[in-house]
Amino acid sequence: MKLTVIGAGYVGLVTAAVFSDFGHAVSAIQINPLKLSLLRRGEVPFFEPGLSEVITRNMKDGRLTFTDSYKEGVNGAEVVFICVGTPSSDDGSVDLSYVYKASEMLAPFLGKEAVVVVKSTVPPGTAQKVAEIIGQKTKEKFYIASCPEFLREGSALSDSLCPDRIIIGVDCDKAKEVLLELHKHVNGERIVTDVASAQMIKYASNAFLAMKISFANSIARVSDLVGLDVEAVLKGVGTDSRIGKKFLLPGVGYGGSCFPKDVKGLMRFSSDKGFRFGLLEETESLNKDQTAWSIRAITSLLGGKIRGKRVAVLGLAFKPNTDDLREAPSLPIISYLLDKGAVVSCYDPVAMDHAGKLLKKVRFGKDAYDVCKDADILVLVTEWNEFKELTMKRIKKLMKQPLIFDGRNVYDKNHLTELGFTYKGIGK
Ligand code: UGA
Repeated sequence: MKLTVIGAGYVGLVTAAVFSDFGHAVSAIQINPLKLSLLRRGEVPFFEPGLSEVITRNMKDGRLTFTDSYKEGVNGAEVVFICVGTPSSDDGSVDLSYVYKASEMLAPFLGKEAVVVVKSTVPPGTAQKVAEIIGQKTKEKFYIASCPEFLREGSALSDSLCPDRIIIGVDCDKAKEVLLELHKHVNGERIVTDVASAQMIKYASNAFLAMKISFANSIARVSDLVGLDVEAVLKGVGTDSRIGKKFLLPGVGYGGSCFPKDVKGLMRFSSDKGFRFGLLEETESLNKDQTAWSIRAITSLLGGKIRGKRVAVLGLAFKPNTDDLREAPSLPIISYLLDKGAVVSCYDPVAMDHAGKLLKKVRFGKDAYDVCKDADILVLVTEWNEFKELTMKRIKKLMKQPLIFDGRNVYDKNHLTELGFTYKGIGK
């Protein structure tokens, strides 16, 4: 099939990569000139394991091309994916301007009976407006569909090739046929539903996962107060297959470009429709408080005095295997420490280039050991694999004081205590 992908961010690029790898001819539209020239050289503008290899392979074979021209990109396409961003507006509502702009731009070049698939995360009802916008600019018959994306940054390719489910949101048989055919090589249960329900599935899924994390963080807080080990508690809870073990890991709070935005988006959508989604209000506020609690725990380990203390921070990205710093809990934690007069050294395997633009007063080290030199406290924020097997005896020798705040429960408390560290984890 000939496919068009509008927007070459995370979702767009992975969609383009996966479908071109299945043998389809994909044209991806990127209007940012800098990003376009990177992509044309086969360079991916963000860190995502394996993605640039798939992209360069398919570019070389001529199945994947990048353009800034809607005419060139959309002409002759049987399926057009809209994968542009849907950021939060200041009032928490979803900013749909990029989706509407893309709809307006693609419409004049749409071929006969093309299927326009909204992959961007949008509230139910958006597809109708998209159809109206396109309808004003074309005489051709077209179909609107919704296939929300469930990939996670850091494991985007495998998530796209083997998702738990593929949601096909359609309002007619023709679009259903085309999309089932297009996804025939993707493993995962097919769920065919109407367009608006597909869009709600995406919001409800992200909101539920965020709520699960806030729940886990709350159990950790109570466990902390009464001296229980939250890991044992949540293992016992998650082993119930009705609950499930995934997304029950307590930490310093969830971040990223999706959960914070989509929790807000669903809250706002619900209240606009007449329902106050209190559960999500609490999910959001617990998440903020989890980061604030982490800051209090670090302060308390330092005996209440931050000024002049040297803090070693391991991990900056909002999660491992990405260089993404959007809503990363590392940022408020580091900003607070800097504000209070700490001297902060950080190390992250891939996010330091981005972090350098946001954090002006920190030192970036060459590895975990480097930032621990003379540190009063080690603060682990992101659980990169390479931090899990550090030689802690060596770390202790390097540090001025053996204090550890383990924001992701990566280390063994007993082992570290035996080595002479003062250890604080989340709910341990
Ligand atoms: C999330 C969803 O997991 C994807 O299914 C969805 O497609 C994507 O949003 C999106 O809407 O585009 P992502 O934001 O890439 O994916 O990352 P996650 O792995 O979900 O992690 C989000 C945050 O939750 C991270 O800060 C992570 O550290 C935190 N987290 C996750 C926890 O604190 N505990 C956990 O048990 C799991």
